[in-house]
Amino acid sequence: MVPSRQADVANASALRNCRLRCIACGQSADGFAVNFRCPACGDLLEVVYTEFDSNTAAPGSGAQRDLKSVWLERKKSSLAADQSGVWRFRDLLPIFSEPSAVVTLREGNTPLYSLSRCPRSAGVERVFAKHQGMNPSGSFKDTGMTVAISLAKHAGFEWVACASTGNTSASMAAYAARAGMGAVAVIPEGKIAWSKLAQTLDYGAHTFQLKTDFDGCVRVLAEVVRRFPLFVVNSVNPFRLEGQKTAAFEIMEQLDWSVPDHVIVPGGNLANSSAIGKGFLELKVLGLIPAVPRVSIIQAAGANPLVRSMREFGGTRLDPVQAETRATAIRIGNPAIWKKAVKMLGDTNGCCEDVTDEQIALAKAEIGSEGIGCEPASATTLAGLKKLVRSGFVEPGDTAVLILTGHVLKDPEFALNFHRNRIEALPAAEAAALRKPPVLEPSADAVIDALMRARA
Ligand code: F0G
Repeated sequence: MVPSRQADVANASALRNCRLRCIACGQSADGFAVNFRCPACGDLLEVVYTEFDSNTAAPGSGAQRDLKSVWLERKKSSLAADQSGVWRFRDLLPIFSEPSAVVTLREGNTPLYSLSRCPRSAGVERVFAKHQGMNPSGSFKDTGMTVAISLAKHAGFEWVACASTGNTSASMAAYAARAGMGAVAVIPEGKIAWSKLAQTLDYGAHTFQLKTDFDGCVRVLAEVVRRFPLFVVNSVNPFRLEGQKTAAFEIMEQLDWSVPDHVIVPGGNLANSSAIGKGFLELKVLGLIPAVPRVSIIQAAGANPLVRSMREFGGTRLDPVQAETRATAIRIGNPAIWKKAVKMLGDTNGCCEDVTDEQIALAKAEIGSEGIGCEPASATTLAGLKKLVRSGFVEPGDTAVLILTGHVLKDPEFALNFHRNRIEALPAAEAAALRKPPVLEPSADAVIDALMRARA
């Protein structure tokens, strides 16, 4: 199969309620090049809504409506778009087709769990986990992918593509399959969790393992799309971020519109944190919340270019690093979306921290012990929260929401290696977190005996 000729994607006339604007020079982009860069200065583009421009409070129809009840009401409808936890917020999403035409796997509508042990160990009053790993393909990517793939299909593209540390490729492959489109995934060989690769293959994407890291894959894909008509669904695609911002809307619904003090997000390519921050900021502009939470970003210590950028240059410049962490989802040294993240941190008064792989592993087991579980990158949030409490940025009486980005089954190897103590020699005090399964003789005596010893 060969991709069809380049479609004239989503020029502004296809978008009914929004346009693209450059985050640096402010120029509007009528159409956009396949690389989603500003035609004037080459920087990132963002979606802005016409109704926000004219400063009218209610988007969509333009009339003052009670969006909160409209969004809840749609949950009761049998329309696929209404059952999607993304498209039921379509008043704040790009409109380019009828709701019935969107490609959806009923993403979103993910749980917000109240945690009990984690707040005690972190030293903060209330901690919630917004589990975006409970999406159809097991990660938050689905909330953005439904928007990106719907738009690609609407614009006449037949092929989509991404470079990925595993979750984007799995999500893209699933949504492209639903849309009947071809998908190309470019992944770093041996550097993504096997279950993510397995998903990508099962959903039918053409998958290429490159002998490089994620940043190398991004470079190669950029060259491929210059020469081949593929619609890129990486996070440089601003439409994907619009879907991802709906996590903010759901959190507010789930907290009965009481604004938490802090929202803590793992950072890799730095799109999800930017998207969630954008969601809160838009709610504030619309008067639906009185203030925004502080949205903070946590990176792995071995893949912390934003932390360094903030410390050394106040976020004015970012030097790529050679990334190394066992949290493979966020093993990213040259994050494409960093400028949006810096702006979001400023707009929400958030901060940026990093945590070691050992801190991530312990935090992951702690979240697991609440019966929830998550993939390693997600656990940066709890490890980061502890650090932010120690530094005084988060106060003991505060409420924090951790964004868990991936399902526990995304990386079973990490969990097994941790519990079998094959990750790193842990200090004795921490070794209690290990839950190594002993091998026993097949008798009730052996099981009861082992149980008694375990409880002693
Ligand atoms: N958590 C998980 C589980 C992820 O898969 C990713 C990114 C992140 C956090 C970081 O989000 O990049 O928006 O800052 N995964 C991408 C991928 C890069 O290809 O699956 P970000």
